[in-house]
Amino acid sequence: MNIPFLKSILGPSNYLGVDIGTTSIKIVDIAKASAGKKPRLKNYGFLESYGHLERLNNAIQTSSLKMMDKDTSELLKMLLGHLKSGTREAVASLPTFLAFITLLEIPIMSEGEIGQTIQYQARQYVPLPISEVSIDWIKVGEREDEQGVKKQQILLVSVPNEYIKKYQNIFKMAGLKLVALEIEGMSMVRSLIAGDPTTTLIVDIGARSTSISVADKGFLKMSNQTDFSGGSLTNALAGSLGISTRRAENLKKQRGLSGSGGEYELSTILLPFLDAIIGEVKRSKNIYETSYGGKIERAILAGGGANLLGIEKYFEEQLGFPTVKADPFRMVSYAPEIEPLAKTLGSSFSVAIGLGIKHFVS
Ligand SMILES: Nc1ncnc2c1ncn2[C@@H]1O[C@H](COP(=O)(O)OP(=O)(O)OP(=O)(O)O)[C@@H](O)[C@H]1O
Ligand SMILES: [Mg+2]
Repeated sequence: MNIPFLKSILGPSNYLGVDIGTTSIKIVDIAKASAGKKPRLKNYGFLESYGHLERLNNAIQTSSLKMMDKDTSELLKMLLGHLKSGTREAVASLPTFLAFITLLEIPIMSEGEIGQTIQYQARQYVPLPISEVSIDWIKVGEREDEQGVKKQQILLVSVPNEYIKKYQNIFKMAGLKLVALEIEGMSMVRSLIAGDPTTTLIVDIGARSTSISVADKGFLKMSNQTDFSGGSLTNALAGSLGISTRRAENLKKQRGLSGSGGEYELSTILLPFLDAIIGEVKRSKNIYETSYGGKIERAILAGGGANLLGIEKYFEEQLGFPTVKADPFRMVSYAPEIEPLAKTLGSSFSVAIGLGIKHFVS
C-alpha cells in the first residue's frame, strides 16, 4: 500500500521551501515559472542559531527532536516576519537520520502487486512496529542482476508518525500550511541533479551530521548519514587551539584549510576529521557499487560545510573523481541582488530550493 506522508493537490503558484537544520533554518519563497522559464526565487531567509556551539543540546533540532516545538515555530515565525511573504503553503524536509531508507530490488510486477510486496517486505527493514510509521515508496529504476534477471528498484522510505505529527504541529503554530514533507535527499536530487543520469554522490555537510546520498539516472538510490560534520571541525579547532567554539567557528569560516592558527596549520587539525567524512563517503560508494552495480563518477558537496575553503580540492584528491560545490541556484531565476548569496552560500540552500521547486519541476 502506498501511504504518502503528505502530498498536496496542485494549486498554488507560490511555495515556501523550509529546511529546518540543526543550527539554522533556511526558507525560500518560490513562484511558478512562466512558460519556458525557471521557477523564480522571490525571497529567502536564513537564520543561524549559535546557541548550539556552546550547548549542543540546545540545537534547533537535536537527534531526538527534544527541543520544544513551540520554540522552533517561534523562530520560523520570526523569519517569516522578515520575509514578508504572502505565501502560506510550505514544503518541508526531514533529515536523513529520522528516516529509514532502503533500496529494494524486486522482480518486475504490476503496480498493485508492488504495493502488496512492499507492505510485506517493509517489516524486514523498519525497526519499529508498522503501525507507528508512515511508509512511502517510489520506483527508481530497473537493473539486470548478476544472473541476468531483470529487477525493478524501489526506494522504500519510512518515517515514524511521531515526527510527521511534530512537523505538522510546528508549521501549524507558525501559521503555515504544510502541504508536503519529504526526506532531504529527495530535495537535493531535485535541486542538484535535475535529471542528469551521471552516477553521483551528494555529500551534505551540515552542522551536526553529514548525509551521503547516491543519485543514479536522475533518481535518489541511497542515503546514509554520519555524525562527522561541520561541528566536528569546529570542535576540533576549539579543542586543539584552546579557544572558544565561537572563535573556532569564525576561524574555520575565514581561513579554511589554507589558514594557520598560531603555531598550527589549521589543516593539520581539520584533515583527520575530513578524512573521517571521506571514509564514510568511500564506504557508501563501495556499498553502492558492489550491491547495485553502478560506478560513481563524481561528487557534489552541499550544505554549509561545502563552503570550507579548499574542501573540493581535498575531496577530489582523496576520492579520485571530479568533486564540485553544489549550485542549487542554477535551478531558479532571481534578482541581481541575490547573486552574491548564490555565490557564497549557495550550497547551504540545496535542500530549501529543492523543496521550493518541488511543485514546479517534473
Ligand atoms: N564558510 C564556511 N566554511 C566552513 N564551514 C562553514 C562555512 N559556512 C558554514 N559552515 C559550516 O556549515 C555548517 C552548517 O551547515 P548547514 O547550514 O548545512 O547545517 P544545518 O543544516 O543547520 O545542520 P544539519 O544539516 O546537520 O542539521 C556549520 O558547521 C558551519 O560551521
Ligand atoms: Mg542541513
